Amino acid sequence: MIIIANWKAKVTTVADAKKLVAASKKIADMRVHQIILAPAGPYLGLLSLDNKSKLHYAGQDITLTEGGAQTGEVTGDMLTSVKAKYVIIGHSERRALGETDANVLLKTQHALKSALTPIVCVGEKERDADAHYLAFLRSQIDTVYKGIQTKDQGNIILAYEPVWAIGKSASEGINADDLTEMIQYIRKILGTYLTKKKADSAVILYGGAVEPENAKALSVGTGINGFLVGHASTDAKTFTALVKAIPH
Ligand code: PGA
Repeated sequence: MIIIANWKAKVTTVADAKKLVAASKKIADMRVHQIILAPAGPYLGLLSLDNKSKLHYAGQDITLTEGGAQTGEVTGDMLTSVKAKYVIIGHSERRALGETDANVLLKTQHALKSALTPIVCVGEKERDADAHYLAFLRSQIDTVYKGIQTKDQGNIILAYEPVWAIGKSASEGINADDLTEMIQYIRKILGTYLTKKKADSAVILYGGAVEPENAKALSVGTGINGFLVGHASTDAKTFTALVKAIPH
């Protein structure tokens, strides 16, 4: 499985960042799961540039276009220049600040152009009895897949992150049955763009309230290929316990 540690803006000292890297290296060395760290900008370059471990690195965001006079922005080429291979795009915390589906598409195109693997976050804000949230999710996915070239459609990692679960504890998160249904639904949508074989093997992660307590239940039989972990990835002991809880 692929486990992405989204540190958000929760890790705020170099010492803490280095502690997390040391713990993450140990679990990456076990070679059971692939560990990708997504530190905030200043720490990303510091940690990833000379990385010789089995860890991989991701940016937490990327600018809309290729840079220039854009104060505060981080481009794809900057990310690849510090040896990041992935970038998180369209996280709900960015969308909450005004990022639209159209923005997410531009960022995905930009990432692909810079040879980064985009990790595109999608997910409903809330669930409704009439299941409108399914159409909402489909439209988030459609915007991205319709806007990129066919050759790139298999090179995207999708992260299903229901906004209502993000930042919550395991007991308030999604259950395995609902997750299974959602992953089947997402693979069905992907089948519009990819061959059935490719849609079935596309990398789909789950994120939102993943903790050591629910990591096993959410990974067995649900059809996911890994997790995008927020708060539980910012404490070395908790993150280690979480990764160890996920079966081979
Ligand atoms: P959480 O966040 O694990 O803290 O719920 C997940 C995410 O926002 O990617």
